[in-house]
Amino acid sequence: MRELIHSSPAALGSWAFGDCAYWPDQQHESSVQTLKTALRAGVRHLDTAWAYGNGRAEQLIGQQLHRLRGEIPRENILLATKIHTFDPHALERRVLESMRRLQSPYLDIVYLHWPHTTGDILPLYQELFRLKESGIIGHIGASNVPVESLKKISSEVPISICQFSFSLLWRAEEQQLVPWCRSRGIITAGYSPLGQGLLGGTDPETLRQKDPRRDLVFFDPEQRHRTAEVLAAVRLVARQSGRSMAEVALQWIAGTGMIDSIIFGARTPVQCTGVLDGLAHRTSACSSSSILPRSPTRSPPPGITSSTISGDPLSPGSSYGTITPCAYRQQPDRPNLKSSDHDFSAMPTRSPEGMRSSL
Ligand SMILES: NC(=O)c1ccc[n+]([C@@H]2O[C@H](COP(=O)([O-])OP(=O)(O)OC[C@H]3O[C@@H](n4cnc5c(N)ncnc54)[C@H](OP(=O)(O)O)[C@@H]3O)[C@@H](O)[C@H]2O)c1
Repeated sequence: MRELIHSSPAALGSWAFGDCAYWPDQQHESSVQTLKTALRAGVRHLDTAWAYGNGRAEQLIGQQLHRLRGEIPRENILLATKIHTFDPHALERRVLESMRRLQSPYLDIVYLHWPHTTGDILPLYQELFRLKESGIIGHIGASNVPVESLKKISSEVPISICQFSFSLLWRAEEQQLVPWCRSRGIITAGYSPLGQGLLGGTDPETLRQKDPRRDLVFFDPEQRHRTAEVLAAVRLVARQSGRSMAEVALQWIAGTGMIDSIIFGARTPVQCTGVLDGLAHRTSACSSSSILPRSPTRSPPPGITSSTISGDPLSPGSSYGTITPCAYRQQPDRPNLKSSDHDFSAMPTRSPEGMRSSL
């Protein structure tokens, strides 16, 4: 897995493919073409979840991988999904349902999507470990798990990869979680690298009334000015360097050296190509660019802001680089447990095959 992630650090997210209310007006065909574009451009890590349309994103991915199987063999893909349940006894059934939708006899990575905010999550991870031992799961992932909980879980269950939000608008994990993962050899996967589009140039002022992104905490009165500062800085650097805002935001992440896998969302093939081009130019752009952090370890703790803007507007030493990390007010991709339009029938019965070697 580690080799595959290093050779393909961009992972395509599929939240928008789920035909869900959070991403209104997303067209099925656009999702299909975006996925194909990513795969044909060499993306080999796909991130999905039951919660993305109650299995619809998983289904779309399963169908397309099946159609493309002559071109891209299943074993060349790192297929990651997230399960949402608080009941360890329901976990195996949920995993089998995801496997059926994804048309795969095994899953490379399975995360628990969101942890309990109360209660013990260890039994859930122990059950995932049992499924890993049975061979249907390659690696166990932790998603949105605070570092203290992760320490406890990983003393009992091997965690291979940790997924959390990471962008210029959200840097909460850089002080504790990332260094801890690094010290344990756990792969870091950062999601929402474009701040759900804001860092790609989506204008907050023009988001339509029905767009749920209007409700992001980035626009809360106490955060609004910081959000505006970051966006202004990214816009400025993009203009000065002749790059797109998305490219600047992505290169900043790549330059921190903190994230092994950048899980991005794209709703069209053009967006997908834009992200991949932005990351592909990384080596030369990073080495010559003054916008990237000089050293991640010099970054001050989240929440501390400097009163002086020194030189490079996006470097950790500047006030832009020490933005108080924002948190989603509503944890927007948290699954809706009341939803019931998924189908429990026709679970796969085939035995696992093609499981790749461990880390
Ligand atoms: N574990 C979790 O709890 C969790 C939570 C969130 C996300 N995720 C995963 O991470 C993936 C990515 O996160 P995300 O979709 O929330 O956020 P993101 O990648 O930060 O933003 C996606 C948005 O960025 C814009 N964009 C994409 N490519 C662009 C380009 N080349 N130029 C300009 N703008 C561009 C588009 O905005 P417009 O739509 O405005 O055009 C797109 O919808 C998800 O699909 C999901 O797989 C996981």
